Amino acid sequence: MITSTIHLAETILKNNGIIGFPTETVYGLAGSAFSDKAIHTIFQLKNRPHNNPLIVHIGSVHQLEGIVREIPPKANVLINQFWPGPLTLLLKKSSRISDLVTAGQDTVAIRMPSHPLALELLNSIDFPLVAPSANPYQSISPTMPKHVDSYFGAKIPLILDGGPCSKGIESTIVGFEGDQVIVYRLGAITLEDLESCVGTVLENNKSHEKIKSPGMAKKHYSPKTPLLCSSFIRNDIQKYVSKKIAVVYFDELDDLESNEGIDCYSFQGDLQYASANLYGLLHDLDSRNYDIIIIEKFPDLGLGKTLNDRIERASFKH
Ligand code: TXA
Ligand code: MG
Repeated sequence: MITSTIHLAETILKNNGIIGFPTETVYGLAGSAFSDKAIHTIFQLKNRPHNNPLIVHIGSVHQLEGIVREIPPKANVLINQFWPGPLTLLLKKSSRISDLVTAGQDTVAIRMPSHPLALELLNSIDFPLVAPSANPYQSISPTMPKHVDSYFGAKIPLILDGGPCSKGIESTIVGFEGDQVIVYRLGAITLEDLESCVGTVLENNKSHEKIKSPGMAKKHYSPKTPLLCSSFIRNDIQKYVSKKIAVVYFDELDDLESNEGIDCYSFQGDLQYASANLYGLLHDLDSRNYDIIIIEKFPDLGLGKTLNDRIERASFKH
């Protein structure tokens, strides 16, 4: 059932059930963060390894008190600036948060989404929600109710319809070590946004020591159709002569449009637009039987860095 009222969703969640949950980033598969049964069901539905922890969603800052042991000063600054919104903080968990949620880690990932329906629901129940993106492990995150429906259909009783996700890309995840802010996943909040708020931050998502976000595994966010992330579209196209190709440009279409067997799409040079629409486009293209999807790399700044991270992980070439 797809509905835009929260009443039935509340009842399902109170009874340890799972729903499709709209946020401004991507849709989540949500259940009570205090229900082992709900947590187990989420891992099972997603076919997600149990060592990959879940994000806890709250509706007000007061809820932090029960679930974390401390809030570093820079976390407070970021909360004031970016919540509600697409920023997830790794904070030391209290005993109220089970090891199932955090995969045994001492920190719990927490965010307050800004989607009005998500906030309304979170504030109508007296427990936080765990919600990983509502896709099977390693596939493209959903940005519309129909994506969630096609992944899980009758396996979940309800999808709360909040329309298309305005950001369209996952939240940015940051943690704290001493006075240092560390970025574990780039997302809808850019490095520039963070640095203008708390000064220099460290990027952990590429080269750094141990992997703290297991979900940052190299292969991720993948369509079934092979995807190639390209800096030289013209050259790469030559390698797939006589194949059915979709080409996705960041900026202008060029005269490839007139080539037979090649369909071209463009984000019109707009990073916000690209972020809001990338996953939706990949879902569409994936259903059209192309032999290959070739995506032009984005300019490597702001949201472009996040989008490059996603298409590189979705690509079959690393
Ligand atoms: O935008 C989002 O964050 C969406 C919406 C639904 O809120 N959720 C989302 O969840 O993207 P998920 O589970 O698909 O990705 C969460 C990532 C995973 O890579 C996981 O490994 C990491 O967060 N994570 C969760 N808890 C963590 C923790 N305690 N320490 C380190 N990484 C953690
Ligand atoms: Mg995910």
